[in-house]
Amino acid sequence: MRLEIRDVHKRFANGAGDHIVIERMDLSVGEGEFVTLLGPSGCGKTTLLNIVAGFVRPERGTVRVGDRPVEGPGPDRGVIFQDYALFPWLTVRGNVEYPMRRTGIKTRERAERLQALLRMAHLEGKERLYPAQLSGGMKQRTAVCRALASDPQVLLMDEPFGAVDFQMRLKLQEELERIWVENRITVLMVTHDVQEAVYMSDRVIVMSPDRGRIIDDVRIDLPRPRERRSERYHEYTDLLLDRLGEAFADARAES
Ligand SMILES: Nc1ncnc2c1ncn2[C@@H]1O[C@H](COP(=O)(O)OP(=O)(O)OP(=O)(O)O)[C@@H](O)[C@H]1O
Ligand SMILES: [Mg+2]
Repeated sequence: MRLEIRDVHKRFANGAGDHIVIERMDLSVGEGEFVTLLGPSGCGKTTLLNIVAGFVRPERGTVRVGDRPVEGPGPDRGVIFQDYALFPWLTVRGNVEYPMRRTGIKTRERAERLQALLRMAHLEGKERLYPAQLSGGMKQRTAVCRALASDPQVLLMDEPFGAVDFQMRLKLQEELERIWVENRITVLMVTHDVQEAVYMSDRVIVMSPDRGRIIDDVRIDLPRPRERRSERYHEYTDLLLDRLGEAFADARAES
């Protein structure tokens, strides 16, 4: 399903008055496209993702998933938060089934869907374990399964690999990329990490802390899975680092 963000404004009151975080944001994510938001801390990435998820309301503008305007959270959008946010008191099975129970999916279909998701994420046999008994990678894959359980049209991810070490991060990127290639769901992801953006994305949106302005919209035209050591890969990371440099300059100008 296509995602359309049109003329979105968002401001927050802070001690010194109003702070405009996002002004006139226009962004489209095509059906099955993987788009990443990249930008310095505080530029409004999480705010924008929360607006799309329906957790935060913009003062102006619209977000549409397909033909439907977003008016709050819904099963058409799966969300993965930075810390995975699994329910620690539920098993893998309980976590993945949770959104299916909420949307009233019958027991039998729930069991079938659970098995299909666990198979896809290489988590078969883990359904009785609790989050505390899982590795970081298993937790992240459980979070992916849970986000996909309601069969969403759009997957929203806020720094899904933020909390793990470098080696694990590369592995998780590869796993998530594989899952995405198999499902071809529309994705909007947030990251700080230029390497990650190039590895995962069809397009990278570089955001400025100056009112969330889009500094650049870079199409990553590399075959998948991507070769991290290739020259073109490095050309893209260099280009994005330059653009991030501009974004940081905006941050200094603003403060
Ligand atoms: N609920 C809120 N109330 C007031 N200000 C807020 C609120 N949420 C976010 N902000 C402000 O909006 C700006 C953007 O925050 P946001 O969390 O979207 O940034 P971000 O790009 O996700 O940063 P990071 O990379 O550090 O996660 C910041 O200046 C922040 O202080
Ligand atoms: Mg954030």
